[in-house]
Amino acid sequence: MLSEQAKSDIQNLMTKYPDARSAVMPALHLVQRAMGWLPDEAIQEIADLVGLSKTEVNGVATFYTMYAREQQGKHTIMFCNDLPCALRGSETMLEHLEHKLGCQAGQTSADGKITLKEAECLGGCDHAPVMLIDGAEHLQDLTIEKLDEIVERLRKD
Ligand code: FES
Repeated sequence: MLSEQAKSDIQNLMTKYPDARSAVMPALHLVQRAMGWLPDEAIQEIADLVGLSKTEVNGVATFYTMYAREQQGKHTIMFCNDLPCALRGSETMLEHLEHKLGCQAGQTSADGKITLKEAECLGGCDHAPVMLIDGAEHLQDLTIEKLDEIVERLRKD
């Protein structure tokens, strides 16, 4: 499952920590970047490489929301629903997104284009509500109209 390059990169990561097992998080990132998500086989291979059990690696991968244990859509929307964003209407906006995409937070739209995830604070409370697209595009001061434009843009991509 893991490419020889990925295995080599993980072994290289392991040399950067006093305890090789500490490389588990960057190893998960590395594999997720390459595969788009973290299937069971990849979790097992990471566990074998870093010297942890599959259960321990899965525990890390399921604890942090940035790791995906299910196949993702082409784009991922992380939508903040923490208190400052909630005070500025994020709950209504999240419901609007769910309705527009035809899926609940944590799921992927039927066309496979967009995965919607609820997130804790994304670090832009002074411009709430906030969302993050594909881990890179930080959008603030959201409105229902902006959400509609963004979804249309992502669907066309
Ligand atoms: S609470 Fe939403 S960005 Fe901080």
